[in-house]
Amino acid sequence: MTTIAIIGTGRMARGLGTGWARAGHRIIFGSRVPDEKIDLIAAIPHARVTTRTDALNDAAIAVITLPYPEVAPFCRAHADVLRERLVIDISNPFDHLPDNRVAGAEITRDAIGSGARVVAAFKTTFAATLLEPLNTDGVQRDVLFAGDDEDDKRIVAGLIADLGFRPVDCGVLHNARILDGMVPLIIELDRRYGGTWQTSWKLLP
Ligand SMILES: NC(=O)c1ccc[n+]([C@@H]2O[C@H](COP(=O)([O-])OP(=O)(O)OC[C@H]3O[C@@H](n4cnc5c(N)ncnc54)[C@H](OP(=O)(O)O)[C@@H]3O)[C@@H](O)[C@H]2O)c1
Repeated sequence: MTTIAIIGTGRMARGLGTGWARAGHRIIFGSRVPDEKIDLIAAIPHARVTTRTDALNDAAIAVITLPYPEVAPFCRAHADVLRERLVIDISNPFDHLPDNRVAGAEITRDAIGSGARVVAAFKTTFAATLLEPLNTDGVQRDVLFAGDDEDDKRIVAGLIADLGFRPVDCGVLHNARILDGMVPLIIELDRRYGGTWQTSWKLLP
């Protein structure tokens, strides 16, 4: 069992938290307004909702599920504690980084500073599929991830597998800029091919 701080309480946070709680992990949600998010505790077994600072203090892993423009300021403000955590960045920059020369996750890493342990994951995974790791044909969906440290990536691959997905290692953190670019494309493909937010990237060997 791992204690996971999930920062934010939106669609991705709820899907990931529900899935990991079902897999036996301890979930602590960090919210700007924890008193207004009490419904999460009822919905997810053994979960806790608290302030963002408190959530980080008690966890080995921090999953940042904030809107992209909020991620770097949050990381700078909590850099001291985040340097001691494995940080999973799921945020999608869209037009905030239009040329894809640098990954949003690299900016997250730099905001935390020297010693940061950041893995980019779940960026290309729609929230609506988080509790549906198999599609309607029974095909296992992939979750793509990227990072610079092999040990950290092994941990993240395990967490992805705990949700029932196949983890697909996309290499170094710099490759996350490609994942950032795949997000507007999968939204376009989902719209064109009638996916209703159920579309996934699949690597076929
Ligand atoms: N939705 C998807 O399918 C999807 C897929 C892959 C990646 N992502 C990425 O995952 C992240 C979260 O997406 P989401 O769809 O879960 O978003 P969401 O439903 O809007 O939730 C975002 C959460 O962040 C917190 N927050 C902090 N500052 C905020 C601000 N200024 N405005 C709004 N919320 C703020 C809120 O929690 P508190 O009120 O409790 O603080 C909120 O519940 C984004 O970076 C997105 O690009 C989303």
